Amino acid sequence: MKAPVRVAVTGGAGQIAYNLIFSVASGEMLGPDQPVALSLLEIPVAMDGLKGVAMEIEDCAFPLLTDVTLTSDPVEAFRGAGWALLVGSKPRQKGMERNDLIRENGPIFTTQGKALSDQAAPDVRILVVGNPCNTNCLIAQRNAPRIPKNRWFAMTRLDHNRAMAQLARQAKRPVASVTNVTIWGNHSATQYPDFQQARIDGKPAPEVIRDRAWLEGEFITGVQQRGAKVIEARGKSSAASAANAALGHVRTFVQGTPAGDWTSAAVVSDGSYGVPEGLVSSFPIRVQKGGEWEIVQGLDLGDFGRDRLRKSVAELEAEREVVRDLLG
Ligand code: NAD
Ligand code: LMR
Repeated sequence: MKAPVRVAVTGGAGQIAYNLIFSVASGEMLGPDQPVALSLLEIPVAMDGLKGVAMEIEDCAFPLLTDVTLTSDPVEAFRGAGWALLVGSKPRQKGMERNDLIRENGPIFTTQGKALSDQAAPDVRILVVGNPCNTNCLIAQRNAPRIPKNRWFAMTRLDHNRAMAQLARQAKRPVASVTNVTIWGNHSATQYPDFQQARIDGKPAPEVIRDRAWLEGEFITGVQQRGAKVIEARGKSSAASAANAALGHVRTFVQGTPAGDWTSAAVVSDGSYGVPEGLVSSFPIRVQKGGEWEIVQGLDLGDFGRDRLRKSVAELEAEREVVRDLLG
């Protein structure tokens, strides 16, 4: 029997967590032979709700689950964590942009970054979901001096999945035929979902979808605005699809990307593609089994793509200025 991996989930009583935790505990995230211990963090007023979630977890009698810790103390929550899924934070409401939340949610990630740095397992990996996730990830990372930069991710997997689904629908092909999609930049309305490198049944997407206006227009804005559309329709932000994306992100960083393909994740930039070093920006990422990863190099974004990426990077730089005092 393998030793359990402790998975810390923040915002344990929230709507994404409710769609996420049960799959983590069942083994869907880390695999059917990997025991899991859970640490669920909430703010004090939500601890009663969290206890209800814990009762339901117990009632599932998950064979792989070794322990559940409920706490409102980040130090306790992150002790020994091998994966930390930082979900807990306010979601935006109708009419807001994600970075309208920056001054409200940003401070959460200073305390959590410090606690992770002091308490987490030496091989910890962190996925920031709470918005604005790129800049929240930057804040936590800058407050966590003991954790190497390559362990930090902000989630653009949901955008990646949305882009795959839109391309598949337009091409009238199954989602499984779509590969090599990239989300560049910020998880925001400036992100650049890249159709130029994408492939459908192994062929360049623009050769299959022969409608440049759709690719450069509706496709891009559709992915950029999908979160807002879900909020408009549901009155609440995406939860099941967000949880599914978080599971997919972790699984990919455990199992690796399929040969010839890649995934999208926001990582601490090493300067690739002209994205200033240190910013947390989304790139195409190739992952080996076991989790070693690299930014896919040598893709030609063309003037169109480079211009889009520049705009998203400018937004990330502006967000960084707004939280400069939180950067440790
Ligand atoms: P929610 O309001 O249902 O749940 C958030 C939970 O976090 C609440 O239970 C709240 O009590 C808790 N919380 C707040 N501050 C906390 C703290 N300091 N420590 C621990 N817990 C804390 O919200 P949700 O729908 O689950 O969304 C959570 C976040 O995820 C939002 O910021 C949302 O915008 C973001 N999100 C990101 C993506 C993405 O693709 N990156 C997708 C969907 C949602
Ligand atoms: C999403 O993309 O669905 C989330 O980031 C929630 C939001 O605010 O759009």
